[in-house]
Amino acid sequence: MTGAHTRLDVLRRHLGAGEEDEDQSLRQEPTNAQALTRPTPGGGPGSLTVVDNRTGKRYEIAISEHGTINATDLKQIKAGGDGVGLRTYDNGYVNTTACKSAISYIDGDAGVLRYRGYPIEQLAERSSFLEVSYLVVYGSLPTTSQLQRWTDAVMRHSALPVAVEQTIAALPHDAHPMGTILTGLCALSTLHPEQNPALSGQNIYQSREVQDKQIVRLIGKIPTLAALAYHRASGRKPAQPNQNLGYAENFLYMLDAGSHPSYRPNPRLARALDILFILHAEHELNCSTSAARHLASSGVDVYTVVAGAVGALYGPLHGGANEAVLRMLQRIGSVENVGPFLEGVKNRKERMFGFGHRIYKNYDPRAKIIRQVAEEVFQIAGRDPLIDVALALEAAARSDDYFVKRKLYPNVDFFSGLVYRAMGFPPQFFTVLFAIPRIAGYLAHWRESLTDPDTKIVRPQQDYRGEWLRGYQGLEERPQQMPPSTDELGPVPPSNAYVRRISGQNW
Ligand code: ACO
Repeated sequence: MTGAHTRLDVLRRHLGAGEEDEDQSLRQEPTNAQALTRPTPGGGPGSLTVVDNRTGKRYEIAISEHGTINATDLKQIKAGGDGVGLRTYDNGYVNTTACKSAISYIDGDAGVLRYRGYPIEQLAERSSFLEVSYLVVYGSLPTTSQLQRWTDAVMRHSALPVAVEQTIAALPHDAHPMGTILTGLCALSTLHPEQNPALSGQNIYQSREVQDKQIVRLIGKIPTLAALAYHRASGRKPAQPNQNLGYAENFLYMLDAGSHPSYRPNPRLARALDILFILHAEHELNCSTSAARHLASSGVDVYTVVAGAVGALYGPLHGGANEAVLRMLQRIGSVENVGPFLEGVKNRKERMFGFGHRIYKNYDPRAKIIRQVAEEVFQIAGRDPLIDVALALEAAARSDDYFVKRKLYPNVDFFSGLVYRAMGFPPQFFTVLFAIPRIAGYLAHWRESLTDPDTKIVRPQQDYRGEWLRGYQGLEERPQQMPPSTDELGPVPPSNAYVRRISGQNW
């Protein structure tokens, strides 16, 4: 993306225009200064009059200037019974505001994503991952000297302790790289006792120095850990990090330099990967970032916070979708099979990975950029034939009523796997390539939650539906025939090796 028109288009879109008027927006300059201020969220402050039809009582509930009501204000609404006040039921937190944040903004209907106010398209076009990670964590684009200090600090912290290398070496050679990364992060938590609130005191993170040290350590070490996970499977050793290279460039160097310190990755591929890192750096309260905040609320050490978040990212409905997309495209195999596959999706026999999003009900802006990056990477690495399957699948889905009605569009994972594959990464490594940059987002939220006076330990309520009260019966008093609806442990088939072992003597 280059040229003034493209940038104007980006700004215009971020000021509120949807996809439809994209062409028109290319010709219009945003002149309305008011559009630069945020429209009042949720309609602004006021109050809500609630009438409880069970009791006829009226309640006045305040609406904040951010368009939210305080969930605890509902507690006063009671109608007898066990005396518990009204609660909201929001399984999956579909409409619950769990924290205040100034890190990123998404308008899912318009397909808009901004980090600290900057449109993602501008950052992808003009910035670098290291600059963006500074922006995400500390709130502003760095000055020249701040960027230099940040780059030096991150790259200086890129080496892994020997104990982490030994821990990883003890894992099976075919361990999933995400499991390997998780193990490495947990191992790191044991190596820096001075930052562990359990050992060094609850207030340890009030020190900016302690915070900053862990931030540069985690962002610095995660590519090295990823390179180690990559070569766990290849049986080779990653090259030692080269602190003089760019962030993505050094990562590719560690993967491919072997014993040639003069090796340099292709700069266009390094830039493509850097753009993908920018696009994945932050995405407000997605499943894994919420997990990070959830863990952080208990006051646990930041390595465990990040490990917990990476664990949530691993799932196929979240960051694991890029791996699932590639396996899905491989299974579809050719354009002719797209129709029958889509029928299977509509009949709920299949899930179409890389499509749909909790927040985006429009094209995921990251997916648009990744489509362009894919073309760039294919020019260097050769065109992946599966891109035709992906494009046919996208076209068929976007003209199909099932997907149109549900506003299901390609998400960030739909095209990213094809880019990663063209760059020579195996599918099981794709989610690692998501985890590396997302550490910046987790750390930004961790840091923000540390200074937010509203932060409380996360502890939702449940809607208890179980047995009310039962008296314990000894084994001999219990009926030995349970009703068929009773839940029980099913048969656990023994492994063949176990059967062989117990059929031997002296077992
Ligand atoms: N394929 C087929 N149908 C879908 C898909 C899909 N990928 N996604 C949503 N739907 C359907 C649902 O079946 C549902 O239909 P219904 O109302 O008739 O039951 C409707 O669209 C709404 O979907 P929900 O599951 O309620 O949406 P939710 O917000 O809970 O889930 C999610 C979002 C998990 C991302 C979902 O769209 C999905 O499973 N997508 C595929 C996995 C994927 O690509 N995940 C990566 C997301 S991006 C990221 O995390 C980095």
